[in-house]
Amino acid sequence: MTILSNGHLWKHSEFIENKNYSFDKNKIFNSLSKQDIDQAYLSISSWKGYSPTPLIELDKLSKELGLNKIFYKDESKRFDLKSFKALGGAYAVEKVSKGNKDIIVATATAGNHGRSVAWGAKRLGLKCKIFISEFVSDARGQAMAELGADVVKVKGNYEKSLIECIKQSTDNNWQIVQDVAWKDYMIVPKYTMAGYTVMMKEIVDQINQNKISHIILQAGVGGMAGAMLAGITRYLDYVPTTMTVEPDSAACVLESIKTGKIEKIDIKRESLMGGMSCGEVSLVPWEILKDSVKYCISLPDDDVAKTMRLLGNASFSKKKIIAGENSAPGVISLIASCEEEKIKDKIGLNKDSNVMLIGCEGDTDQAMYQKLINQ
Ligand SMILES: Cc1ncc(COP(=O)(O)O)c(C=O)c1O
Repeated sequence: MTILSNGHLWKHSEFIENKNYSFDKNKIFNSLSKQDIDQAYLSISSWKGYSPTPLIELDKLSKELGLNKIFYKDESKRFDLKSFKALGGAYAVEKVSKGNKDIIVATATAGNHGRSVAWGAKRLGLKCKIFISEFVSDARGQAMAELGADVVKVKGNYEKSLIECIKQSTDNNWQIVQDVAWKDYMIVPKYTMAGYTVMMKEIVDQINQNKISHIILQAGVGGMAGAMLAGITRYLDYVPTTMTVEPDSAACVLESIKTGKIEKIDIKRESLMGGMSCGEVSLVPWEILKDSVKYCISLPDDDVAKTMRLLGNASFSKKKIIAGENSAPGVISLIASCEEEKIKDKIGLNKDSNVMLIGCEGDTDQAMYQKLINQ
């Protein structure tokens, strides 16, 4: 070992196996249909400026860990938005608007989803209202304002911003484009997930003859992870070993998988992995995740900055990779799994493994990115 060994121990906070695991393709299609998935690809791949994001091999890391290949889907190159979120909110705006130029769309956001909605509205010439909590950085608010959105700062946390968004949207007849589902609000979040499945279509076109043995999926409310499982169902004729990874301060998927029902987490400390700092799994992805994800992992924030730096200085691959905070946990959980022999054996990581990691975002908040990699 060269990159990884210096006495540093990479570790999980928790690792669990889903006792209810049974990957049932028909059940998954009941949540997100083949038609939803195909329509999203057809639309998004025709957008101006569309091109698949790169699939990069972390060849130096796979050598060190004794694995065959590690693939990293680099979403820092997704349109100009530098995050997979560009696929979701913007697609949902298109579906909600149905070609109508007179509607106003609204959303509450921690940043990246709102940027996607604002960008989607701009693409279609629609007005857009974005509600952010007082904890969302000015830089993130500014980025959405620059896309033409009217940005409203709300006192309190994300939930408060969502309540205000729902209130004002109801009063003014604005169309809410939210990525989180609740009872009676399932269709739009489904569109966002359908948008995310474009990543899986591209991956399948990019891996050539290689077979993915393992896939590690970051989860906030679970939308991206659920979408990728639906993408596996649609585009692969086999099922890799599936894992979610979350911050240990907000492991709502892991805790829900443990008990088999949705558990709400009281977040005591906001994780550095801000996009994943979510206290409750969303309804649509839960229906997929509850029996289709095999293992769940939670992590502390400790190795996030270090991992971003190692990706950024080409320690893991031939080329430098700009990876934001939410891109690090896939890499960290893979290294930690390889360092713990019992887990490595259990999940079957070995010299034949081809592991897929999702680099969800680049430097979506540039000041934060610089601060972390220079730590
Ligand atoms: C920027 C960002 N936001 C949010 C998420 C979480 O997605 P979801 O809330 O759909 O689980 C991720 C990745 O997990 C992310 O990278």
